[in-house]
Amino acid sequence: MTILVTGANGQLGSHLRLLAPLSAKAWIFTDADELDITDRAAVDDFVAGHNIGLVINCAAYTNVDRAENDEETAMRVNATAVGNLAHAMQRHDGWLVHVSTDYVFGGNPNNRPCTEAQQPNPTCAYGRTKLAGEIEAQQCRSTIIRTSWLYSEFGKNFLLTMLRLTATQPQVKVVFDQTGTPTYAGDLAKAIFTIVESGAYLDHAGLYNYSNEGVCSWYDFAHAIAAYSGHTSCDIVPCHSGEFPSPVERPAYSVLDKTKFKQTFGISIPHWTDAMQRCIDNINQQ
Ligand SMILES: NC(=O)c1ccc[n+]([C@@H]2O[C@H](COP(=O)([O-])OP(=O)(O)OC[C@H]3O[C@@H](n4cnc5c(N)ncnc54)[C@H](OP(=O)(O)O)[C@@H]3O)[C@@H](O)[C@H]2O)c1
Repeated sequence: MTILVTGANGQLGSHLRLLAPLSAKAWIFTDADELDITDRAAVDDFVAGHNIGLVINCAAYTNVDRAENDEETAMRVNATAVGNLAHAMQRHDGWLVHVSTDYVFGGNPNNRPCTEAQQPNPTCAYGRTKLAGEIEAQQCRSTIIRTSWLYSEFGKNFLLTMLRLTATQPQVKVVFDQTGTPTYAGDLAKAIFTIVESGAYLDHAGLYNYSNEGVCSWYDFAHAIAAYSGHTSCDIVPCHSGEFPSPVERPAYSVLDKTKFKQTFGISIPHWTDAMQRCIDNINQQ
């Protein structure tokens, strides 16, 4: 049985690539140019041809702003394609580990951490397509993990942007009215890797939340990134979301409650400040 990681050149996929050599199992990594998961026939052929028994789907249409104007494409990647993977896993008696998002929650009137039992209510196209993807993933035996505010050493993300801006600009404005939890892709990858390696997923199909521990606003996150990096000459100014006009209504409060994940898998989760420091240390060592 071989493990397939789709969307493997993204943030999460890149971190799974780093971990795979620690495994005795066989892993295959593909991105869109090697396996376009929106192509059902290609997915079926690949799964059959490589004896795939487990798919970890890291592929997604993650451009939240662009999804607002191209929901059809986002739906094809974030939902229809997940159905293709689920269909293939169902046919081959396999398993799908799928990654979703806190954006399935739009407004959270209670301002309390969201549990897996809470009714989703996406208020943007990206959130709607990811919620549709969760439903597709449930067509086969699956583990669905919702995460939030993903960043890493790879690709484009808030941490890399803030490292650059706070090093080069005298002032940076960052919103303080959106609250959540940053998640280091390295920690999420390690959690998924641990579950897959141990086989623990087999007894615990279902929906789980995973982010780093703690709560902050984007402003707090930017402030912590600059402080840890010694970028003290940049004035980081808290501002309201309205100062950055966007077609997307982002969740004002989307902290994920991770109790179920921790109790089920017995995995402790690092605090976001600790995770941020490890990521910046890794960047500085590159
Ligand atoms: N980023 C966040 O802040 C965040 C927050 C919460 C949840 N998530 C979820 O976490 C997961 C991993 O996110 P990430 O940040 O690692 O994503 P990412 O860096 O944007 O990587 C996604 C990868 O999927 C590939 N891809 C796109 N369309 C594809 C297709 N049709 N077939 C195969 N591959 C395709 C992309 O390739 P191209 O670059 O060539 O398009 C890219 O390499 C996703 O499910 C995402 O929705 C992300």
